[in-house]
Amino acid sequence: TYIVLDACIRCKYMDCVEVCPVDCFYEGENMLVIHPDECIDCGVCEPECPVEAIKPDTEDDPDGKWLKLNSEFSKTWPNITRMKEPPADREEFAQETGKLEKYFS
Ligand code: SF4
Ligand code: F3S
Repeated sequence: TYIVLDACIRCKYMDCVEVCPVDCFYEGENMLVIHPDECIDCGVCEPECPVEAIKPDTEDDPDGKWLKLNSEFSKTWPNITRMKEPPADREEFAQETGKLEKYFS
């Protein structure tokens, strides 16, 4: 499966939503997640993200923390199928690290 990583937090561009053929993105206040059981591994969303927040779960997630987070929150957050207005200050957070600890709620 593909998963959304912390680079998405407070950037939330949502270009990814427009290309997913199975509409498996779910929306939280500060980021989106992918439902791992619904993702068909097509990979088309990965190059669409301006901050490279989307990766296969086999990359950049050695301890499985982000797979777990995507899995858990996709069960309760609402499905999102169309791009909305992204946060006006999204560029300020594009290079920031440690966003999970600082901003995730
Ligand atoms: Fe959707 Fe394909 Fe991305 Fe999975 S890899 S979230 S199916 S666009
Ligand atoms: Fe997030 Fe990138 Fe999509 S910032 S909302 S994963 S396009």
